[in-house]
Amino acid sequence: MSRGFIYLDNAATSWPKPPSVAAAMTDFLATKAGNPGRGGHYLANAAAETIEQARTRLASLVHADTPQRMILTHGCTDSINIAIQGIVRGGLCRGRSDKPHVVASAVEHNAVLRTIHAYSCEGLIDFDIARCGSDGLIDPDEFLSLCNSRTVLACLSHASNVLGTIEPVEQVGSQLREHAPGALFLVDAAQTAGHVPIDVQAWSIDLLALAGHKGLLGPTGTGGLYVGPRAFPDEPTAPRLHCERRGGTGKIAPGLFMPEDLPDALEAGTMNAVGFAGLAAGIDAIPTLDHEKEKRHVARLVEGLGQIPGVVRYGLMTAENRTPSIAFNIADLPARELAARLDEEFRICIRGGVHCAPVLHETIGTGQRGAARVSPSAFNEDAEIDQFLEAIAAIAG
Ligand code: ALA
Repeated sequence: MSRGFIYLDNAATSWPKPPSVAAAMTDFLATKAGNPGRGGHYLANAAAETIEQARTRLASLVHADTPQRMILTHGCTDSINIAIQGIVRGGLCRGRSDKPHVVASAVEHNAVLRTIHAYSCEGLIDFDIARCGSDGLIDPDEFLSLCNSRTVLACLSHASNVLGTIEPVEQVGSQLREHAPGALFLVDAAQTAGHVPIDVQAWSIDLLALAGHKGLLGPTGTGGLYVGPRAFPDEPTAPRLHCERRGGTGKIAPGLFMPEDLPDALEAGTMNAVGFAGLAAGIDAIPTLDHEKEKRHVARLVEGLGQIPGVVRYGLMTAENRTPSIAFNIADLPARELAARLDEEFRICIRGGVHCAPVLHETIGTGQRGAARVSPSAFNEDAEIDQFLEAIAAIAG
């Protein structure tokens, strides 16, 4: 179907959404839009049921042992902030005689990097960054060698939002406690959820941050945070993730105290219920997409860009072990200018610049100018990929 433009910016947010997403949101607003869990009437219950459907789908997608351990959030950045703040400001760090230490990878998004940097500036933690290669891959042994008895948190993005490279999360998760017995493992799955399988239990992930609006096909303003038993033990007196956000919940609470059980302990205030209605529909639609077609687009883009004189590609040169994000530049053309020209002259939407991943950009030599990033989906047709490559050849020529 011709839309008058070509959308290739799915790493920023997926588009189009399956029609069932808008249908579920419209139906929610028309027939279920009470305040979830507040009041026991029909509409409040219908909204609460919608919320729980989204929670159950997210939990089962990542193999959480129970939906209660899936906190619903405003998005992946919100999830990451809740996780890091909850560790740094809570009993998991307080009262230690040594300074809490954090390890993060060079691949991380600013949601992680700016947050740990801010706490480091406050003197609450210090941190180390594990390098990655020009292909975007970290060396798991090097990452683990930075983890020690002071380490309270290890952060590893499941995939680079710039290069798409999928990181060895399973290997790091399985060996982390040998190096850092007290460390929690936080994985940012913004770019991978909906694209590749995730298993929080098998991979020993304590905290998993999810974006609702990318591979999960939901609307913006939705996300999830899986909180495992090491991060939030059932026993209320054990050190747990601390929550700075307090307020009303859908559960009867003891007076001025927040509920002690998940998910309510970490969820205050009225949820984006209409968004979660859309997210549940989005997750349901994932199996209906042609994932092989998406992979074919990635292979065609990697290869096609490599044949255009003047184009420099970054990261992996294959379609394997990656999400559909391909970074490149044309000669010395600033990446933002390239994206703007594609939009204005060819009606093609990609993202250009420094994609909120400053350390990764330094690593691949694009710290100042950034890179152009093209990210297709199964909704793109082969002809659209060809038109994109022709447009790049025209600009490069
Ligand atoms: N984090 C999103 C991106 O990579 C917005 O574009």
